Amino acid sequence: MARIVVITSGKGGVGKTTVSANFGWALANLKQKVLVVDADLGLNNLDVVMGVEDKIQYDIIDVIEGKCRTKQAILQDDKNEYLYILPSYHTCSSYKIDAEKIIQVLQEVEYMFDYILIDCPAGVDEGFDRAVTCSHEAIVVTTPHISAIRDADKVITLLYSYHLDKVHLVINRARGDLMCTGEMLDVSTISNFLNIPLLGVIPEDDEVPTQLLQGGMVSKSQAKYAFDILANNFHNGAEEIFDCTKKYKGLIGMVRRNIKRKI
Ligand SMILES: Nc1ncnc2c1ncn2[C@@H]1O[C@H](COP(=O)(O)OP(=O)(O)OP(=O)(O)O)[C@@H](O)[C@H]1O
Ligand SMILES: [Mg+2]
Repeated sequence: MARIVVITSGKGGVGKTTVSANFGWALANLKQKVLVVDADLGLNNLDVVMGVEDKIQYDIIDVIEGKCRTKQAILQDDKNEYLYILPSYHTCSSYKIDAEKIIQVLQEVEYMFDYILIDCPAGVDEGFDRAVTCSHEAIVVTTPHISAIRDADKVITLLYSYHLDKVHLVINRARGDLMCTGEMLDVSTISNFLNIPLLGVIPEDDEVPTQLLQGGMVSKSQAKYAFDILANNFHNGAEEIFDCTKKYKGLIGMVRRNIKRKI
């Protein structure tokens, strides 16, 4: 049976969809069968990020409405035979869809996968409840910005009431140059404040929006390396954390910091 993991944050735009797609890709590279589910019903965009927009015939709403089976709505990734997506394509008002319906959709295919990753909508209303209720574990994504950290803190408190097996932290868009100079909160300060196990750190990387715009996962970059570490931590229980400050330390690091500041 699959481990069902919700990727959530509270605050919008911190990288839930990016993490869902790329973490899924990295787990699939470890030969784990992964289904990434777009539970952001209404404001969905996982299909675009994963480059399957043009291939969708049915989506999760069609399954819920009984127009097709879950298997018929699932798409296999072109480049990785272990990676699958259950898209949400319809623009719909989702308030009538409760968690029970999503659980039924997933029950049909749970046995086929090692991991099911649920891309949660922003906020803490019914969309959040729906996505978390059908999950066993959660990954809370935050950026190093105060507003995102405060929202992550509220979400972590809320997650306690769902009695999940585990709640992990991922810090996304970390800027090693700014952390070195103290202009951005550093990784240990954030993880000590939020006080849940740190699963990984993903750097701010220009390759992320560029490659996602082309409808593909991050393939050659610092972020790709960090997603691989994240997947290894999650799947194999390793405890490596990507050090986003490493290349900005020392004399050469100072030059790099100054160059980055001028770009
Ligand atoms: N590590 C990163 N480096 C650079 N850009 C990033 C990174 N992570 C995410 N982004 C960019 O940030 C933007 C928001 O990311 P994303 O859509 O994944 O956030 P989200 O939390 O899913 O948003 P929403 O709450 O609206 O669903 C996107 O343009 C994405 O390309
Ligand atoms: Mg999203």
